[in-house]
Amino acid sequence: MCGIVGYVGHRDVAGFLLEGLHRLEYRGYDSAGIAVLQNDEIKVRKKAGRVQELSSELDSNPVQSSIGIGHTRWATHGEATNENSHPHIGGNGEVVLVHNGVIENYIDLRNQLQGLGFVFKSQTDSEVIAHLLAHHLQEQVKLGEDASTKETCLKALELTTRKLNGTYGIVAMFKECSNTIICARAGSPLVIGIGKDEYFLGSDSSPLIGYTEDVVYLSDYEIAILSSDGMEIIHRDSGHQSPSIQTLKQVSADSDLGDFEHYMLKEIYEQPQSIENAMRGRLDEDEATAKFGGLNIDPQQLRKIDRIVLTACGTSWHAGLVGEYLLEEFARIPTEVEYASELRYRNPPMTDNTMVFTITQSGETADTLAAMRECKRKGHPTLAICNVVGSTIAREADGGIYLHAGPEIGVASTKAFTSQVTVLTLLALYLGRMRHLSQPAGSRIIQQLKEIPDIIRKTLKCHEAVKDISERYCHYENFLYLGRLYNFPVALEGALKLKEISYSHAEGYPAAEMKQGPIALVDEKTPSVFIVPRGNIYPKVLSNLEEIKARKGPVIAIACEGDTRIEQLADDVIYVPDVEDYLQPLVTSIPLQFLSYHIALLRGCNVDRPRNLAKSVTVE
Ligand code: G6P
Repeated sequence: MCGIVGYVGHRDVAGFLLEGLHRLEYRGYDSAGIAVLQNDEIKVRKKAGRVQELSSELDSNPVQSSIGIGHTRWATHGEATNENSHPHIGGNGEVVLVHNGVIENYIDLRNQLQGLGFVFKSQTDSEVIAHLLAHHLQEQVKLGEDASTKETCLKALELTTRKLNGTYGIVAMFKECSNTIICARAGSPLVIGIGKDEYFLGSDSSPLIGYTEDVVYLSDYEIAILSSDGMEIIHRDSGHQSPSIQTLKQVSADSDLGDFEHYMLKEIYEQPQSIENAMRGRLDEDEATAKFGGLNIDPQQLRKIDRIVLTACGTSWHAGLVGEYLLEEFARIPTEVEYASELRYRNPPMTDNTMVFTITQSGETADTLAAMRECKRKGHPTLAICNVVGSTIAREADGGIYLHAGPEIGVASTKAFTSQVTVLTLLALYLGRMRHLSQPAGSRIIQQLKEIPDIIRKTLKCHEAVKDISERYCHYENFLYLGRLYNFPVALEGALKLKEISYSHAEGYPAAEMKQGPIALVDEKTPSVFIVPRGNIYPKVLSNLEEIKARKGPVIAIACEGDTRIEQLADDVIYVPDVEDYLQPLVTSIPLQFLSYHIALLRGCNVDRPRNLAKSVTVE
């Protein structure tokens, strides 16, 4: 995981590094640090905690240079302490580096290096790379090479990377080699921005936005040397490469909080608009279908699809579950939803005409990317439903559909989920209309979809009621979230939201399935959140609810406006507008977002930056 920045050129580097780290904080916020070369000395400033802490440290202890590297950490090996923060110095201070990824053989390497006399200050796997690099540099010098040349430093890094098992994006500076940054990648992304006599570096393009539009995405096993003399890229096996310069697609980053107290709340309120954006230009009323610009796959091929695999992580996986129901109902295509972390190592049977859709807000989740690459390698068309334009998954997929939800900054995903569900609904309509879905049925769906943004506006009015209810439930430690059919994935998502930001335990279950075990948990201290809108199996869910009440479990019901029966059964009711079954997830997920938000606030939690989490999980 972790975010990386780097710069070499003529600007004062600290400002760029800090701004870049702020933009990369979504990749982790356990600690932050920078290193610069100042008068041929390596200066490091690093702090456990947010980038803001580092910023204060730099105010009292400034640095001055035009070359530097920076890092924001999500801890994998070793706690979030100052010592474990990056950058790490190697050897006797000859080198300094930042690392993103996981070194799987770090224990063996550390033992070997300790045997050679290297002293470790941290528990990280990354410090091993720093000492190994210093070791190879020292060896080169012993062979008579000059430590101040790029060639010697490059050789040392090349030898270092050959000993690493695992994934890495490494950015290093060398005490003797002024004005030079050398970086290498295998599995962890690095982007180089090209300016006028200056180079920018990021583990994604966000730190580069506003500085340059010309970028080079480093490929696996490439090493780049950036200096005042220019840029060189060398592949481990095939030598010098001519860089493929691409234009950075800039998206306006509306990351202003406005009148809202938290990004999560702002993003919940943005949903009428983000859902509308997901549909904009994609409803074809004449043909009663949906249309997409970037699928890059011809309709003939789409007609032949006999299986769909949706793969994702976290909230996006929950959206995938809704997608499975939608695709099977409307397009009648057998659909499987796979955790990307499982799919990447599994070898499930896939027909020749299986199409793989990755679902991802960030487009950077390591497992999702790896699962997509594995499917692509097998020759399946890979398409992405993605929010972040120009992200790694968006670039590597054969085609896809953007969410156009705008930046989602709160770590707990809200508007991305409803946008994903919206796009999956459009996809089901599109594939359905190629198959069994009639023109009138398609038209009806389009009319219902057009009403959704207004319905979501009305749904948001439940906010005050949810806030009141939260006060009564914020002290409970265990919750069940129960729903059936389209609302089963919503139950999973509601439970995940609560866990993520309030640290209360919650389990999502199909409402009927809770009889097979979870009901044993039910007592006066375990509330159940029942998603029970009107619809095909309303009476069945009511029976499940009664089973909970019979065991004294408190019940919060999410029900349709005008449902008077529910009031006699549930302890508390949150009303939402009545919609068709297949549209319910868009509506019923909203009170659950508010519920987790308010319970978290009342428990004194950091809603936008919950402990131990990151917005994007870029390690496996
Ligand atoms: C992390 C985030 C979740 C997100 C998941 C998948 O766990 O905290 O909110 O759903 O990653 O992220 P993606 O960007 O691939 O949708």
